[in-house]
Amino acid sequence: MKYSYLSLFFILLSCFQFTTCFAQDKKIEDKVEALLAKMTLKEKIGQMNQLNGRMPSEKLYQQIRNGEVGSILNAENPELVNQLQKIAKEESTLGIPLVIARDVIHGFKTIFPIPLGQAASFDPEIVEIGSQIAAREAYEKGIRWTFAPMMDIARDSRWGRIAESFGEDTYLSEIMAVAMVKGFQGKDLSNPASIAACAKHFIAYGAAEGGRDYNLTNITQRQLRNFYLPPFEKAIREAGCATLMTSFNANDGIPASGNEFLLRTVLRKEWGFDGVVVTDYNSIRDMVRIGFSEDNKDAAMKAANAGVDMEMASGTYLQNMEALIAEGKVEQKTIDDAVRNILRLKYRLGLFENPYVNLKVKSSIYSENHLQAAKKAAEESFVLLKNKNNLLPLKNTIKTIAIIGPMADASHDQMGTWAFDGEKGMTQTPLKALQKQYGKDVKFIYEQGLAFSRDNNKTNFSKAIEVAKQADVVLLFLGEEAILSGEAHSLAEINLKGAQSQLLEELSKTRKPVVTMIMAGRALTIEKETALSDAVLYLWHPGTMGGPAVADILFGKAVPSGKLPITFPKYAGQIPVYYNHDKIGRPAKKTEILLNDIPLEAKQSSLGTTSYYLDAAFDNLFDFGYGLSYTTFEYSNLSLSTDVLSKSDILTVTVDLKNTGKFQANEVVQLYTSDLVGSIARPIKELKDFRRINLKPGESKKVAFKLPVSKLAFWNINNIQTVEPGKFTLMVGGNSYDVLQKDFTVAP
Ligand code: NOJ
Repeated sequence: MKYSYLSLFFILLSCFQFTTCFAQDKKIEDKVEALLAKMTLKEKIGQMNQLNGRMPSEKLYQQIRNGEVGSILNAENPELVNQLQKIAKEESTLGIPLVIARDVIHGFKTIFPIPLGQAASFDPEIVEIGSQIAAREAYEKGIRWTFAPMMDIARDSRWGRIAESFGEDTYLSEIMAVAMVKGFQGKDLSNPASIAACAKHFIAYGAAEGGRDYNLTNITQRQLRNFYLPPFEKAIREAGCATLMTSFNANDGIPASGNEFLLRTVLRKEWGFDGVVVTDYNSIRDMVRIGFSEDNKDAAMKAANAGVDMEMASGTYLQNMEALIAEGKVEQKTIDDAVRNILRLKYRLGLFENPYVNLKVKSSIYSENHLQAAKKAAEESFVLLKNKNNLLPLKNTIKTIAIIGPMADASHDQMGTWAFDGEKGMTQTPLKALQKQYGKDVKFIYEQGLAFSRDNNKTNFSKAIEVAKQADVVLLFLGEEAILSGEAHSLAEINLKGAQSQLLEELSKTRKPVVTMIMAGRALTIEKETALSDAVLYLWHPGTMGGPAVADILFGKAVPSGKLPITFPKYAGQIPVYYNHDKIGRPAKKTEILLNDIPLEAKQSSLGTTSYYLDAAFDNLFDFGYGLSYTTFEYSNLSLSTDVLSKSDILTVTVDLKNTGKFQANEVVQLYTSDLVGSIARPIKELKDFRRINLKPGESKKVAFKLPVSKLAFWNINNIQTVEPGKFTLMVGGNSYDVLQKDFTVAP
């Protein structure tokens, strides 16, 4: 009896959790139907049209009046929002409010680290808080819909938008996507400070060939299922993400906005999505350029039939949909369903009751708790890559510090890509923060050396060297400007640009200890620079509070705990590099012959017989999950609750973690599995869980994980999602390669 009550409770709980995402509120559905019944075809098509409000004009106002616009993007001025809503509410026949959208990607005014940096924190809690804060600030200005989070799996740092991603791992991306959606949307979309999130870009946009933005992709259905789709599924089914954006690319020849299988079968039928599908900017029109559609009309037909509800910018629906209906090429029901999704979103957002911005509300923008959260997020995102002789944290015997480099005081660039509304005047840079927070105890001397990251002018090198010579330690801030990553900003070489590397080389000749800090939107190839530095701290683009975060980390008030969410190659030519690739027949060995080992006039042979480069060997610069601390952690006693399980079991895994160093710190304990044999080749290993554990010096904890066997499921040779019985290896450690491991078996 006791059990049945308990199980009833869990059944109800899981129904509740499920229904929070999908329960269609009957009242809302009734309202949607009632309104739909009143709408003309023109008005319906109008709802499916999203226009840019950046340069509002009389033409736009008139279109709103005519009921030709359902949503506006880029109207972030609250007075303008109110003006547009007033026209929609009071001057259009049906008074349907607009939904105002904006790219609020990693903060609105208070800028958080770029998403790639946030992923490095392995801390979904701070990610959720960050998007909550972004939503609150954006809501104040009338924004009710953000085009975030981006959850594209990204294995190629040449791709500029890797900055906006959560990196290469599917599981980490799922966790971070869910956290961000929850933060943006809150408990109820109609609450003040909640805004609709958007899962983007559906699908495989991050797999652009050669890392060139907008390029084609060729990811197989099974790879989509196993690697690329899961973050979207989780964002929708677990976090109730209200909207989804189709991507620019054609995958396997089919543009995302024309992919009926993915939009109707996977998204709507399999996942039960009842939110809005919006395209990316002009991407319906782009289907003509791709050669998938003859003209805009054909493109509009294909997108509507594939399941795109709302068109961003290109206006092909507005221009062609009436004719397409008249010609029987698009069914009336297709339009009705799309409009239902759009109206449902507007009701869920409470827009009908509450379309206007309250201009009198006390602003929370840049409030102290927002700034402190941004600082914490930045601290947690930093990854310590090298710390020779424990140079960091800086000792209090240090009296004079040289601050050098183009990124030390780069208030604009520190915000990173897609920080549309961020204000450089509010950014706290490392230079300013160090002077302010530690200037009483230490003498800081500053020389930029290079004016910006691409600068090749070495005129000021001598001054930088002079400054370094006077100091006990050099803090060198290198990296890339914000504009070198982000949309349409891909690179063929992902090295430090300009004369930055030479600057480091010159400084290292002074024999002063050098701490190199790198602000960047991607992984950079920094093998040489790492060797030349005593310590390397990777900062990503850390946002508004990057400076105070850096200052506290350098002086040991906070301890680095970030871990890499992407693999760092030594050379761009190694790309794509990612830890969870499928096993291959001839994996690399450390002992292979390299370029200079080959004798002259050697006869053609297979030399070594494994998969590696003659000039780059096989290994990466830094692997996924890697990141040092000021303290050290010891892992021991990995134990599994059993070594044979059935498919419905849950494996309990425990490991002892001890802080063996001198600092209280967080460690990200990572759990990986490897499916030894499958009906298809399986990944070398896959992250399945992680925990952030805080330990005092000398303290130990038993860290426990619950691993449901169902988490081992994958889309197999028959294209079904299942756990295949057999042997698995379970690994636990502080990164993806230095692990304790044990085998277990899943019984048939
Ligand atoms: C294009 C980008 O690809 C997308 O991510 C963004 O949300 C839209 N433009 C709107 O700005």
